[in-house]
Amino acid sequence: MLIRKPSDIRPSEITSRENYLNRRQFMQAGAIAGGTLLAPAALGAIVPEERRSRLPDVRESAFSTDATPNSYDDITTYNNFYEFGTGKDDPVVYARDFEPRPWTITVEGHAEKTGTFDFDDFMRPFDLEERIYRMRCVEAWSMVIPWVGISLASVVKHLQPTSRAKYVAFETLNDPTRMPGVRRRVLDWPYREGLTIAEAMNPLPILAVGLYGEVLPNQNGAPIRLVVPWKYGFKGIKSIVGIRFTEKQPPCSWNEAQPREYGFYANVNPKVAHPRWSQARERRIGAGVFASKQETLMFNGYGEHVAHLYEGLDLRRNF
Ligand code: MTE
Repeated sequence: MLIRKPSDIRPSEITSRENYLNRRQFMQAGAIAGGTLLAPAALGAIVPEERRSRLPDVRESAFSTDATPNSYDDITTYNNFYEFGTGKDDPVVYARDFEPRPWTITVEGHAEKTGTFDFDDFMRPFDLEERIYRMRCVEAWSMVIPWVGISLASVVKHLQPTSRAKYVAFETLNDPTRMPGVRRRVLDWPYREGLTIAEAMNPLPILAVGLYGEVLPNQNGAPIRLVVPWKYGFKGIKSIVGIRFTEKQPPCSWNEAQPREYGFYANVNPKVAHPRWSQARERRIGAGVFASKQETLMFNGYGEHVAHLYEGLDLRRNF
């Protein structure tokens, strides 16, 4: 299904990377000089004005790639978020009026700190960081995204899993009144994902609450979503309401829907073809139709940080 972007989005309203970087330098200068941050210049009409606010006190992270990030337009108009439709251009339209507040996160299972937490209370102990990550989708496209988030490892440590916790499971909101896509059973809702505890304790994964220095747009998983840069995009579960520490491998939506095509691990692996396409190369969104595809890197290029997690595991069988 092809749905046009809202007619009120004019190309001139979409921020280029140059504008973003200029604005960032300007704001950093402002922060140094005066200690206060000004409201941002318009980033575009894609996200309603009242939802768009700058996140305060964001540190830059040493884990960032120096690859050029995709534009705000690419990142917020070409999305997978089946709760708001199965087309790439559905979420920008159908998530537009989604209200990600009030929001709670329920922590259950084998951990000392369990319970239901208001989103702001949940976030309070953690520092916000900007991490520019290469992202690779299973459908063979990729983007570079300047996320803002908190370290998942810090969150896990804070929640104090017990020795019985071997996995961390995540669950998305399942609300047909606010998410039109869940009225159709394209997946067994709610959307679910999981990581091993060792993966979750690795320094790379973040729970993202923003991008381009601003509050996360609805279509990208507001108010909080997972980002695991060495895994295919489908592991990056959006709009999280539940975290559970489990002994057994938790169910994951795509693995349950099509186990031959989508594994629990979902590590980016150019050597193992998806049953319907090769995974050896990728198309960078926004590079233009004539741009050549690029080689896909094992673990999406993050091998030095994560390859040790899979020593002794046959990654052809455990895909
Ligand atoms: N999370 C939920 N709840 N529902 C979804 O349909 N799609 C996944 C993932 N997280 C999805 C989800 C897939 S397939 C991808 S590629 C990424 O979100 C896309 O994230 P993005 O739209 O921010 O690029």
